Amino acid sequence: MRNQQATKLIFEMSRPGRRAHHLPSLPESAEAISELLPADVLADEPPPLPEVAEGDVVRHFVNLSTLNMSVDTHFYPLGSCTMKYNPKRNERMASLAGIGDVHPLQRDGTVGGVLQMMYELQDMLGEISGLPGVSLQPAAGAHGELTALLVAAAYFNERGESQRTVVLTADSAHGTNPASAQMAGFSTKAVKSNADGLVDLEDLKSKLNDETAVFMLTNPNTLGLFDSQVGEIADLVHEAGGLIYLDGANMNAILGIARPGDFGADLMHFNPHKTFSGPHGGGGPGAGPICVRDFLADYLPGPVVVRDGDGYRCQAPSKSIGRVRSFFGNVGVLVRAYIYIRTYGKEGLRKVSEDAVLGANYLLSKVRHILDVPHGDRCMHEFVASAKRLKKDKHLTAMDIAKRLLDYGFHAPTVYFPLVVEEAVMVEPTETESKETLDAFAQALFRITEESGDLIDEAPHSTKISRPDDVAAARKPILKWSEGE
Ligand SMILES: Cc1ncc(COP(=O)(O)O)c(C=O)c1O
Repeated sequence: MRNQQATKLIFEMSRPGRRAHHLPSLPESAEAISELLPADVLADEPPPLPEVAEGDVVRHFVNLSTLNMSVDTHFYPLGSCTMKYNPKRNERMASLAGIGDVHPLQRDGTVGGVLQMMYELQDMLGEISGLPGVSLQPAAGAHGELTALLVAAAYFNERGESQRTVVLTADSAHGTNPASAQMAGFSTKAVKSNADGLVDLEDLKSKLNDETAVFMLTNPNTLGLFDSQVGEIADLVHEAGGLIYLDGANMNAILGIARPGDFGADLMHFNPHKTFSGPHGGGGPGAGPICVRDFLADYLPGPVVVRDGDGYRCQAPSKSIGRVRSFFGNVGVLVRAYIYIRTYGKEGLRKVSEDAVLGANYLLSKVRHILDVPHGDRCMHEFVASAKRLKKDKHLTAMDIAKRLLDYGFHAPTVYFPLVVEEAVMVEPTETESKETLDAFAQALFRITEESGDLIDEAPHSTKISRPDDVAAARKPILKWSEGE
């Protein structure tokens, strides 16, 4: 009977004439209205909106929201796509009137406080990364990748090195890396990982030449390992005349401990949703600030905030690639990152990373008795286990484990990524989880490996919809609740 309201579409609840509020009818004539509104939004017939009472709308959407798992309701160990705890305090501050009600078209002089915050955020990200040129414009990590590659292309063009058309990506990289490179007009080549899950230096060397523009490196990488060869990698790429791009999605493992600018990176992006507790944008309404070396700063997209006497103003860098986002980027998300960084301070951010690494290693020490972990005895903020042996011995796949974990009250880890690990189960606990939660998760994982039959094949049993995209689902009805349940 739970969530009865959420089993219906809101259109199915519609009854003619039912309303949340009755507004007085407009005194204006049809002509007067058509003067106010553009013709293409005026229709002869009103749009077919559902007609429902306020209580029903509220219940409908509140019930819908309870069908999903979130960081506020469940442990969410989604490796690589980290869902970090979003402190409620940050949410409250971001919605203060002086921040939440600011209009993007307001003149610089009327939004000095917000500009100051953005200026200071640029400064702090430059300090954390060791790369002083900062643009807050990109709207997601992947958008940051694209933007930084456009910056690199502009730089090479100006140097008369437009033959540099190849971007190298690690074979363990997130799919956004080669996709961004293609979108920026480069062709891509994958660099292999070695048996330890790190960059295969010989393979890298064989692919470097005067066509190389950028090597996109994720460090810590998507196997949760810090590639300690990074200095040598940077030397090799720089000697070949290329630039190092650091996919900074995993910066939450090294905050205050290592800076990309110090270990050879020339450009990078941050994922505030993974590192600084911003809400995840799902490809757009998030943020993906980029940081670059000083010699690349003139190509950054504008506007950036600069000091102007005692105040602040926006300006475009001198050789800017232009805008990549309307207005100033997603300021609401950036404000949350600003508050997060200011709240923790230098020492606090280092502690965040230390706790993230400690939590992941604690869980790894428990999980390695249950699943194989092919790379590394230790990990950074996440680790990648494999269900390959269980699949062979017991027909238990990574997908089965992910589905069954939902019944135990845990959001599934990332599965089948990175591609270099067969039957990958990628776990990232984040720094805020307690020992009790990590123990309970390991215990659930262990119990699942002891299970078999329908319990596994038809899991999850506790959710409204089960395995919509699986072969098993093709044999069974997708919807598990029946009329009137
Ligand atoms: C390693 C890595 N790179 C890039 C991205 C892309 O970031 P976004 O989802 O913000 O576009 C992700 C996803 O979170 C990621 O895990």
